[in-house]
Amino acid sequence: MPSSAAKPGRFCPSHYRYSPGVFAREPALKAKSLYIVGGLYGNPYALEAVLALAQRDKAAVVFNGDFNWFDVEPAEFQGINETVLQHAALRGNVETEIAGEDQGAGCGCAYPEWVGEAEVERSNEILARLRETARGFPDLRAHLRDLPMHLVAEVGGLRIGIAHGDAESLAGWQFSQEALHEHPDRAQASLVSAGIDVFACTHTCLPVMQGFATPRGTALIVNNGAAGMPNFRDTHFGLATRIASAPSPEALYGARLGELVVEAVPVRYHHDAWIARFDRAWPAGSPASLSYRKRIACGPAYDIGQALRVVAPTRALTHA
Ligand SMILES: [Fe+2]
Repeated sequence: MPSSAAKPGRFCPSHYRYSPGVFAREPALKAKSLYIVGGLYGNPYALEAVLALAQRDKAAVVFNGDFNWFDVEPAEFQGINETVLQHAALRGNVETEIAGEDQGAGCGCAYPEWVGEAEVERSNEILARLRETARGFPDLRAHLRDLPMHLVAEVGGLRIGIAHGDAESLAGWQFSQEALHEHPDRAQASLVSAGIDVFACTHTCLPVMQGFATPRGTALIVNNGAAGMPNFRDTHFGLATRIASAPSPEALYGARLGELVVEAVPVRYHHDAWIARFDRAWPAGSPASLSYRKRIACGPAYDIGQALRVVAPTRALTHA
C-alpha cells in the first residue's frame, strides 16, 4: 500500500525540483516597477483588475503560476491563457499538470499533512476536469508546457527571485505562512544560497511577508496568497505583490527595502459577477464548490495582522 506521501496530489514530482543556486544568475527582466501575480485561479475579473493596476503604474507584470484552476469552460480557459501569455509567465503545478498527461501526480500540489485527504482528492478531480478542457487547445497547452519554473528580475538594483512554490520546488511549501513560522531558518538559508533580496512566490493560498537578515542585508519573502480569491476573513479581493520606488496608497501592508517598497496590493475584482460565474461552472456539490465556495464568499480564517512579519531593520509601512 503506498504511503500517503506517494498519493496523487501529495508529492512533488522530481521534475518539479531545482536548486536554490539556480537563482544566482543574471536577471532576465529589468523593470522600474513590477507586479507579481500568483494564483489567479481562472478569475477573469481579477485578471482585468490587476492588469489595470499595473497599467496605471506603468509596471511590468509576471504571472507566477496557477493562473488556471476554475476556468473549465472552454472560452474562459482560452481567454485567460491568451491574455496571461502576453506577459512574462511561469508555470505553476496547475499549468504543468494540465499541459501533460501524467495521471500519477494528480493536481501536483504536494499538499502537506495539515491539508485533509478529501480536499486533496477534490483537487485531483478539479485538475482532471481542467485537463479535459485544455486538451481542446493544443497550442496553448504546448505554450504552458514550455513556460519556465523560475525567473530572476531586477528592480531598482534589487534582485528579485520569482517562483511558484519555493526556492527548491515548483510546488514547495517552505514559503507557506505555516512553514515560515515553524522553520524560518530554512527559508533564510534559501535566500542566502540564492543571492536574492526578495523572493516572490504563491501556491500555498495564504499570503505572508516575512523579513530576514542575510549577508546582502535585509531580505524578504513575499507570498501573495491568491490574486483571484479572497485572502483574509470577510473580504472579497485578491492580492498581488507590487515592487516599486514609491508606495501605493492602496497597499494593505508592505516594507521598505533600500530605495524600494514591496507591498501587498488588493486586486478588487467584481465579486458578484465572479461568484455567479463560479457557481455556473461549479454548482453546489461539485469538488470546487465543496473546497472553495466558502472561501470565495467569505474569505479564509486568516487576518492581515498574521501576514506581515517584517523584522528590523525593515520598516513596515502603515497603509492598513
Ligand atoms: Fe500551486
